[in-house]
Amino acid sequence: MVSKIDRERMQVNRRYWDEVVPVHAASEMYDVQGFKAGRLTLDDLERGEVGEVQGKTLLHLQCHFGLDTLSWARLGARVTGVDYSPQAIAMARALAAECAIDARFICCNLYDLPRQLEGHFDIVFTSYGVLCWLPDLREWARIAAAYVQPGGFFYIAEFHPFAYVFDDEASSLQYRYPYFMRAATRFEFDGTYAEKTARLQNREDYEWTYRMGEVVTALIEAGLRVEFLREHPFTVYEQLPFLEKEGKARWRFAGGAEPIPLMFSLKAVKALD
Ligand SMILES: C[S@@+](CC[C@H](N)C(=O)[O-])C[C@H]1O[C@@H](n2cnc3c(N)ncnc32)[C@H](O)[C@@H]1O
Repeated sequence: MVSKIDRERMQVNRRYWDEVVPVHAASEMYDVQGFKAGRLTLDDLERGEVGEVQGKTLLHLQCHFGLDTLSWARLGARVTGVDYSPQAIAMARALAAECAIDARFICCNLYDLPRQLEGHFDIVFTSYGVLCWLPDLREWARIAAAYVQPGGFFYIAEFHPFAYVFDDEASSLQYRYPYFMRAATRFEFDGTYAEKTARLQNREDYEWTYRMGEVVTALIEAGLRVEFLREHPFTVYEQLPFLEKEGKARWRFAGGAEPIPLMFSLKAVKALD
């Protein structure tokens, strides 16, 4: 059950996300022009681990303005994307129309989704920067698991909670935030991960951190069987300022060092009835 105060915090966050959509759509990182020209925005990690999607139904939770959702569609999935930002969903629908991609997008807070969307999906997918916006992890897991078709699976690729312990403004790995954080943290900032120089009107947000064990346990308690949990020494954006870029969209520690995990990926299946 999401509390009233957490609902209000999500509203604050939503205003931030609404403002960020056009900024991200114009950013080099999201490269919308490249997408329109046929580029797939998915990382090799999730493409490889999710596998073949041709003809499968795929629900994408917290889809932002839909580039990954539409990329799954380009690979043959029958996609539904969900996000609570009206700006994001409007942009996703416009991109789908312009690129003639068949996709359904629903504007809805994830916690209210069971009132707006029925049914089951072969794959329930979510990725990169999603859990920190959610005030109730167990409820998230219950909702995500309920949409998985028996015999289907849930998949997440996400930033590793241990990486959030370190100062993202320091010039080397320095401890800043406790791993065992229980309350929402309020941040004030400028810029976004995709456009660091952006000047925003909505300059605050609330974020929640969850331990690795909490994520896995929430999914197990929601009735899924974890098939794998993998921890990765690389990431998909400049998560810490001293990481080095490798290729088009990978960042790692310099010199082949792998001191901490930067991301994790997890696949969990629902048994056949
Ligand atoms: C970091 S983005 C996800 C990024 C995505 N993987 C991408 O790069 O396009 C997080 C998204 O979660 C959405 N979001 C946050 N809280 C939500 C909620 N309670 N319900 C639905 N969407 C939410 C935001 O609007 C935002 O689009």
